[in-house]
Amino acid sequence: MTVIAVISPKGGVGKTTVSVNLACALAARGHAVRIVDMDPQNAMRLHLGAAPGDTNGLIHQTLQQVSWHYAEYDSAYGVSFIPYGKASEVERITFEAHLAHTPNWLRDNLAALTDELTLIDTPPGPSVYVQQVLSIANLVLVVMIPDAGSYATLDSIESLLAYYCGDRSDFYGSYYVLNQFDGDRPLNRDIQYVMQSSLGDRLAPCPIHRDESLSEALAYQQPVLQYAPHSQAAEDLQQVSDWLQERVADE
Ligand SMILES: Nc1ncnc2c1ncn2[C@@H]1O[C@H](COP(=O)(O)OP(=O)(O)O)[C@@H](O)[C@H]1O
Ligand SMILES: [Mg+2]
Repeated sequence: MTVIAVISPKGGVGKTTVSVNLACALAARGHAVRIVDMDPQNAMRLHLGAAPGDTNGLIHQTLQQVSWHYAEYDSAYGVSFIPYGKASEVERITFEAHLAHTPNWLRDNLAALTDELTLIDTPPGPSVYVQQVLSIANLVLVVMIPDAGSYATLDSIESLLAYYCGDRSDFYGSYYVLNQFDGDRPLNRDIQYVMQSSLGDRLAPCPIHRDESLSEALAYQQPVLQYAPHSQAAEDLQQVSDWLQERVADE
């Protein structure tokens, strides 16, 4: 199973939006794709048309010691998904303590599922979730927005990646994508330039532009590739998914 971790130093950058839409684009290219939500916000499901009242997710499967299989759903977009689940504060604290003491939790649960290209969405910044995901990811995609604050986190992300992924023989590489890009803003272009200089071909070949279609698509509980296939964001996401597909196929 190839596992792609999607991480970001900050929240609200579009990590969930990018994960879901890339998963759908990869599925449209013929891959069997699953997306796992490891963020307690439990928001990924909303992009995929999940039933609003369904609280089920991997947190409950884990606390009840049953297979994730029972929390895996099919979407209408060729992607299956496993939500985090809606949990109480006590459940979340118990769950996170369990993860801290069970370093192979994610590896073992994924091993029991069918072999699919698996994208994992995470909460921002370092956490017990990110530790588990980075420890087994074959490939990491870091989502950044083109501002100075995000750029300033580059060194700490690189250290985090080196620590968890650096010397693993099953690690393909870490890559970056800029989201919410606005080419009319000089600062956005400057950040893109310095990121390209630092990262070379580890930066996606194009940024994903700031585009209202992405927010609208979420309001309709659809991937943007479905909701507005000819939008700028959809075109960017297609290019980024082609590039990502090549990174996966190279291995
Ligand atoms: N490229 C973009 N253009 C416009 N809005 C975006 C873009 N990417 C994300 N958004 C919006 O930003 C908000 C946060 O996105 P989300 O994917 O939930 O971020 P994260 O998972 O990083 O917290 C959402 O309302 C989403 O619709
Ligand atoms: Mg998110």
